[in-house]
Amino acid sequence: MLPISNDSSPKQPANPKPQNPEVLERKNLFNTLKLYLPFHHRRLWFFLAVVLLQLLLLLSAPSIPLSHSTAGTPNSSPTIQNLTSCSTAATSIITTINNNNPTTSGSCPYGKVYIYNLPPLFNSEIVKNCHDLNPWNSRCDALSNSGFGKTATGISKVVPKNISPAWFWTDQFSTELIYHNRMLNYQCRTLEAESATAFYIPFYTGLAIEKYLFTSNSTAQERDQYCNMMLDWVSDQQYFKKSNGWDHFISMGRISWDFRRSKEEDWGSSCIYMPKMRNITRLLIERNPWDYFDVGIPYPTGFHPSSTVDVINWQEFVRSRRRNTLFCFAGATRGIIKNDFRGILLSQCYNESDSCRVVDCAGSKCANGSSEILSTFLDSDFCLQPRGDSFTRRSIFDCMVAGSIPVFFWHRSAYVQYEWFLPTEPESYSVFIDRDEVKNGTSIKSVLGKISKEKVKKMREKVVEIIPKVVYAKPNEGLKGIKDGFDVAVEGVLRRIKEHQRGYKWK
Ligand SMILES: *[C@@H]1O[C@H](CO)[C@@H](O)[C@H](O)[C@H]1NC(C)=O
Ligand SMILES: *[C@@H]1O[C@H](CO)[C@@H](O)[C@H](O)[C@H]1NC(C)=O
Ligand SMILES: *[C@@H]1O[C@H](CO)[C@@H](O)[C@H](O)[C@H]1NC(C)=O
Ligand SMILES: *[C@@H]1O[C@H](CO)[C@@H](O)[C@H](O)[C@H]1NC(C)=O
Ligand SMILES: *[C@@H]1O[C@H](CO)[C@@H](O)[C@H](O)[C@H]1NC(C)=O
Ligand SMILES: *[C@@H]1O[C@H](CO)[C@@H](O)[C@H](O)[C@H]1NC(C)=O
Repeated sequence: MLPISNDSSPKQPANPKPQNPEVLERKNLFNTLKLYLPFHHRRLWFFLAVVLLQLLLLLSAPSIPLSHSTAGTPNSSPTIQNLTSCSTAATSIITTINNNNPTTSGSCPYGKVYIYNLPPLFNSEIVKNCHDLNPWNSRCDALSNSGFGKTATGISKVVPKNISPAWFWTDQFSTELIYHNRMLNYQCRTLEAESATAFYIPFYTGLAIEKYLFTSNSTAQERDQYCNMMLDWVSDQQYFKKSNGWDHFISMGRISWDFRRSKEEDWGSSCIYMPKMRNITRLLIERNPWDYFDVGIPYPTGFHPSSTVDVINWQEFVRSRRRNTLFCFAGATRGIIKNDFRGILLSQCYNESDSCRVVDCAGSKCANGSSEILSTFLDSDFCLQPRGDSFTRRSIFDCMVAGSIPVFFWHRSAYVQYEWFLPTEPESYSVFIDRDEVKNGTSIKSVLGKISKEKVKKMREKVVEIIPKVVYAKPNEGLKGIKDGFDVAVEGVLRRIKEHQRGYKWK
């Protein structure tokens, strides 16, 4: 049986809802402050939030919708849930939100999604061109199987035979394909734009620029052209004009920073900075925590269950696993500069070889997962998740899917990224160790070793309970009775758009 929890429902973003782009800019001060404040100072938080809200009210009084407080969050969403018949708690809240909206149907309480029929050059042609998407190797394998990649043939050494068909060599940058395929079969998809709550733009933003990211002579214009063309196309649509883009969303398969180039000569495309992108919600594997329109979604792992039974079997497998190693670290070990934080973790790990295991991921060896990583996570109580080139890593999800408890050193690695998917209380499923203390000589082993067996068991149970929400199911129509990462993300978007509709009178 799957565990039922009370706090697993998607949360509203930590940031207060922005009212318009100018307010977004003003928010930065507050959020910068937030980085320096310990997470558990709830009262201080509350105080700051109240002050900020008052400030916002003062600054943008005429445009502000009243009564955020009634918005509410459905507060109990069990892991197992009938997708077609919603839980009473959620239904009653939705009823209050939508009592002016007779078109809301029972099975899609948050409304429906319309998929734009983009010219193929924005999606299918990019995939057709998979052998030529990056300068080094073909991406055709990675993009095969609706973005899941090839089946993970070698994995049956590590996982039970009956679940091994649910494993694939999935590339971490494949959410554009995964989301598009799921959306086409989504039970809350509508073919009639006029009945849609949200508009999905199936543009493969990340795949479109991959080639130009890694070619040294590429021009800023090359990296921006696709996004520019797409925005011209979309902004010309009547439904975009009607809402200023507020009910539009897109999945972008790379981290936010790849789309935030401010100077010509810098890295990436400037897609997110383009004015027409301003009000479009973007699903990203790493978000900019200061931008309300960036939504963090789980990196794809290799696990794509075909059925509820796959999920339950897998949960039982990782739950009952004997774990011989206290903690582990999977990451690039070569080329690490002295004093680099990962270098410290590595040397601690090598020094404590009877309680710590290292997987060397030099180069991009671990980009699509590997059975060695999986078996290491399956054998460890904890996995270390320092930041890498960016704050987040796919490894966070590989770790949790294997039932291992993540250890974070930066809040931005998960806590302010994946709020719709992870529990509200970080300490219920993860360990946070201050990186400065580690730099000062605190031993990871001593910190983790002090955590009681019972507490470890409780945390692992929480991690196991999260698993369905951080994986992407194999069937395009989703799993019966279980919400996976896609369901949580799209419902979250729909719910947000409903909230805007209450506050904003567009017509
Ligand atoms: C799920 O839906 C089916 C069919 O509508 C119903 O028979 C069943 O009792 C429901 N289960 C739960 C847990 O609500
Ligand atoms: C970059 O170099 C490649 C091969 O060296 C060439 O084919 C391409 O046209 C060049 N692109 C630009 C914009 O100069
Ligand atoms: C974004 O939304 C704001 C507020 O509705 C609006 O003033 C602005 O024009 C919109 N931007 C675009 C590009 O539509
Ligand atoms: C690891 O062990 C070596 C040799 O004993 C020691 O010099 C080094 O300081 C240790 N590193 C850590 C992080 O404990
Ligand atoms: C990851 O993908 C590459 C390229 O498709 C492939 O050569 C490699 O074997 C894959 N890694 C694993 C662990 O399967
Ligand atoms: C680390 O050590 C420095 C110097 O001894 C001290 O000032 C600082 O407060 C310590 N930081 C932590 C987090 O322990």
